[in-house]
Amino acid sequence: MAEKRVDPEDGTAYTWDELSQFYKGKYKKKEVEAYWEACKPAKRAKSKAKSKAEAEPKAKTKAKAKAKASAKEAEPKAKAKAKVKAKATAEPKYKVKAKPKESKPPASFKVCVCGGCGGIGQPLAMLMAMDRNVGELCIYDLNISPMPPAGVAQDLVHLERKCTVKGYIGEVGQPPVKFMEEALTGCNLVLIPAGLPRKPGQTRDDLFKVNADIAKGIVEACAKYCPEAVLAMIVNPVNSIVPAMAELYKKKGLDPMKIIGVTTLDVVRANKFVGEETGKNPNFISVPVIGGHAGTTILPLFSQDKAGKLLPAEKVPDMDKHVQDAGTDVVNAKNGKGSATLSMAYAGARFGSAILSGLSGRKRTECAYCASTVTDIPYFAQKVVLGPKGIEKVLPLGELNEHETKRLAEVKEQLKGEVETGLKYAEANSLE
Ligand SMILES: NC(=O)c1ccc[n+]([C@@H]2O[C@H](COP(=O)([O-])OP(=O)(O)OC[C@H]3O[C@@H](n4cnc5c(N)ncnc54)[C@H](O)[C@@H]3O)[C@@H](O)[C@H]2O)c1
Repeated sequence: MAEKRVDPEDGTAYTWDELSQFYKGKYKKKEVEAYWEACKPAKRAKSKAKSKAEAEPKAKTKAKAKAKASAKEAEPKAKAKAKVKAKATAEPKYKVKAKPKESKPPASFKVCVCGGCGGIGQPLAMLMAMDRNVGELCIYDLNISPMPPAGVAQDLVHLERKCTVKGYIGEVGQPPVKFMEEALTGCNLVLIPAGLPRKPGQTRDDLFKVNADIAKGIVEACAKYCPEAVLAMIVNPVNSIVPAMAELYKKKGLDPMKIIGVTTLDVVRANKFVGEETGKNPNFISVPVIGGHAGTTILPLFSQDKAGKLLPAEKVPDMDKHVQDAGTDVVNAKNGKGSATLSMAYAGARFGSAILSGLSGRKRTECAYCASTVTDIPYFAQKVVLGPKGIEKVLPLGELNEHETKRLAEVKEQLKGEVETGLKYAEANSLE
């Protein structure tokens, strides 16, 4: 019996004669031969193709293949391009629905990456330069950074994207407000990974003291030159830096909801780990991660995702811990020479893109750490709706299972003190 192979165009099995006859005149012989090679052999036992073939005399199958070639409604199956065309006429409803989304032109926002020459800053700047909604990208860093901002900008400007890229340099020990006017004026989004990563043995409080002053200088410049912009804080410790900066904004009469802590990396990791465990595609997994952005304050709600809820109950505590410790795993794997930079840049760009999408009128939902009333802790990470002004709505936590409810109490206990550290800083300081 002649071998049959399944044509992926219609899922039907054909012999070489039938297939080559069908595609004759549409493709060159060599192309059809290559196509045949790529088609999977049909299963002999009761495949759909076989039962179809059995139901009709063989001579007729051949004739059918020929008829298929000429029949108007079957034509598009021959060629992907034609198929798309045919879909447009055969399924007008689908087209009508999809078209308005596709045709909305991209926006042209101005984005600044502060600390744009660092481990996170450089890849983050590259990913933002590739975002269709970015028209102007500014790279700001200090004169002591390992790479001059103008160099990073000159490198990125060669990407075949529409956005312009320019570098801006600040002087160490001087207030950023002296150097950032051009970079920040008209900015819609400021991404802030500027700061020091935690060194082994350093406490969170030590890190906070250094990084809060760095963040304050930049936030001060934003308050002056782009008070309407969204400020995405990547600099650690996010749990304390965000309350500190948001309260300083409030004191200055500005909107504290413009200051947002980026916790997307926790979500990205939770999605990835659930994907690995369940065999599902992480692209379609969306585990909300709530609470804060360090250690026990990170609480992934596996029960709220279709794949996440497939995890056996006994595995959940380990997965929870895996997400909490993932940052340390990267530091250890890098032998203490750095922390997560590439995955953080990926996560930061995912969040940055979502903000720009929202600003352009296409609402998006992401998890983020911000002023919140969904629990009794005044700053909390949960799902938020991003819209034309930034955070439009802070969403409730939803239903929690037993493990998550128990963990939530732990989260709050730890987070309370870390938020307090930020609030105290804001009490003792002011923006110029
Ligand atoms: N939110 C997260 O999920 C997450 C993940 C990883 C790291 N981080 C934090 O991000 C920060 C940056 O990490 P990194 O690995 O890129 O560090 P890095 O040292 O490689 O880069 C930091 C950059 O900031 C610049 N900088 C320092 N002070 C500045 C100032 N006053 N003005 C402008 N630029 C300044 C430095 O010159 C450097 O280029 C750290 O605080 C780190 O803990 C956050």
